[in-house]
Amino acid sequence: MKMTASRWLLSAAFVLATQAAWAADKLPNIRILATGGTIAGSGATSTTTVGYTAATVGVQKLIDAVPEMKTVANVSGEQVFQIASENMSNEHWLKLAKRVNELLGQDDVDGVVITHGTDTLEETSYFLNLTVKSKKPVVLVGSMRPSTAISADGPINLYNAVILAGSPDARGRGVLVSLNDQISAAREVSKTNTSTMDTFRSPDLGMLGYMQGNKAYFYRSPSRRHTADAEFDVSKLDRLPQVDIVYGYANVNRVAVDAHLKAGVAGLVHAGVGNGSLANTVKPALVDARKQGVMVVRASRTGSGIVTRNGEANDDELDFVAADNLSPQKARILLMLALTKTRDSREVQRMFREY
Ligand code: DGL
Repeated sequence: MKMTASRWLLSAAFVLATQAAWAADKLPNIRILATGGTIAGSGATSTTTVGYTAATVGVQKLIDAVPEMKTVANVSGEQVFQIASENMSNEHWLKLAKRVNELLGQDDVDGVVITHGTDTLEETSYFLNLTVKSKKPVVLVGSMRPSTAISADGPINLYNAVILAGSPDARGRGVLVSLNDQISAAREVSKTNTSTMDTFRSPDLGMLGYMQGNKAYFYRSPSRRHTADAEFDVSKLDRLPQVDIVYGYANVNRVAVDAHLKAGVAGLVHAGVGNGSLANTVKPALVDARKQGVMVVRASRTGSGIVTRNGEANDDELDFVAADNLSPQKARILLMLALTKTRDSREVQRMFREY
């Protein structure tokens, strides 16, 4: 039977549509949760790389700007909130963690990408590293240049983050951070430069791997407890204990500690000089804090290394907790979550050894 041209075209279209559907069916389903930041920022000119406005571009526009993502994943987006990340709050974190856990509990979601400002990206990542109840990949991504700038890094960072979130090899490695072709661990990565593209580094233990040629290359995994193995559950919480940080420096006084005590703080992280050292002018204030039931954690402002228990202070005698190698800003997050479970300082110290 001679097949007419139109019948041929129809059957070809049917085959192509079937192939496309089959291909899409094989692609991972990735949900992009947008929170704001420079990746969603815009500047007055294409050369404006500082002094732009963060958190102005919506999630669908971010997705539409990278059509190539359709070849590597079935992508859909949600605007969870739209803020510059210096304004991130505990309430934002609770909302985000609950939404991530809800999505990862769905069979039709294989991974989540969160677009985020870089200023507090390391903190949100660590909070989620302790509160996400799934082994599915969660990847935080940002950019150092706004979407309107020459050589904006947002589109390629977002494309790589979607590939990473859809990579089976990314499962079970905890919350990941991916910018600048690198893969880093939520617990260990920090923003180390105010404005350069290579700002995210893990000074203590290094990154986990690379994103290169549309593929994730891993070289190691985090060894501390995280995500599905973590004991913290925020599903029924609508607020978190107040934990603040006081900074150590030459000629420090006790004013900041006393002010936090007056405000009713539940926990204090001391970002000490060196190995978490306590100046004679501030130690009595922290002793008073402990006596009032405030949990005190000794961390270090140095940026790397372990704060040794009973090293620069007798933690056993003072009933303080040593932060291990967590930065002060991440020690605050672990202490906040620890205080949702216990007021026993030995239990809190166990958590700083395990997470
Ligand atoms: N305001 C900063 C923030 O939202 C901009 C920095 C950035 O996102 O790279 O974190």
